[in-house]
Amino acid sequence: MKITYYGHACFGIETKGKHLLFDPFIRENELAKDVDVEKIPADYILLSHGHGDHVAEAEEIAKRTGSKIISNYEIVTWFGSKGVEGHPMNHGGKWSFDFGTVKYVNAVHSSVLPDGTYGGNPGGFVVWNEEGCFYFAGDTAVTYDMKLIPQLCPKLDFAILPLGDNFTMGVDEALLASDFIECDKIIGCHYDTFGYIMLEHKSAVNAFANRGKELILPTIGNPLKIN
Ligand code: NI
Ligand code: MN
Repeated sequence: MKITYYGHACFGIETKGKHLLFDPFIRENELAKDVDVEKIPADYILLSHGHGDHVAEAEEIAKRTGSKIISNYEIVTWFGSKGVEGHPMNHGGKWSFDFGTVKYVNAVHSSVLPDGTYGGNPGGFVVWNEEGCFYFAGDTAVTYDMKLIPQLCPKLDFAILPLGDNFTMGVDEALLASDFIECDKIIGCHYDTFGYIMLEHKSAVNAFANRGKELILPTIGNPLKIN
């Protein structure tokens, strides 16, 4: 799986020849100013919840690439009214796509779309195929429901967790989440984009290393390869 970080909570993951794009929010992110939105590939756009810092460029990229949106029913319906095709899911359900299986899992957060439309309940995704299994948590607190993931999904190879604190988990909670999901390779996101979520990189990485775990704080635009 080839992973590209586009800043904030936006990741591109290439697996089985398909490009999955998670939570696109680029143009308003000063840290991602070198990312060319018009060149981002996508076959599917997975949206964890309706907040603007997760869906900003979803319509534009979906229309340019002809990609399908995968999210909860409310968000898929909202994009459907704009002429974007999608696959609606809800918590606890899974579906087999041509790139692998997706399970939509709980997140503790809120969700409203940019125009004020109800955005359903926020979620995260567990995605797996023969190349591996990963968890994209979306914006969430640490929650005991995370303990269900290792019971219901294959062993995680890596997980993408928010850890900028204030709106989501901070470093200590993300560390506890990594225990709950039984995964020692964590890619951090949702930090440094705005004032409330500044992260001390070195102490965050050390906090994981001290527990024998790896925290990767990815560089924007730089592809990262995992197994
Ligand atoms: Ni949010
Ligand atoms: Mn957010």
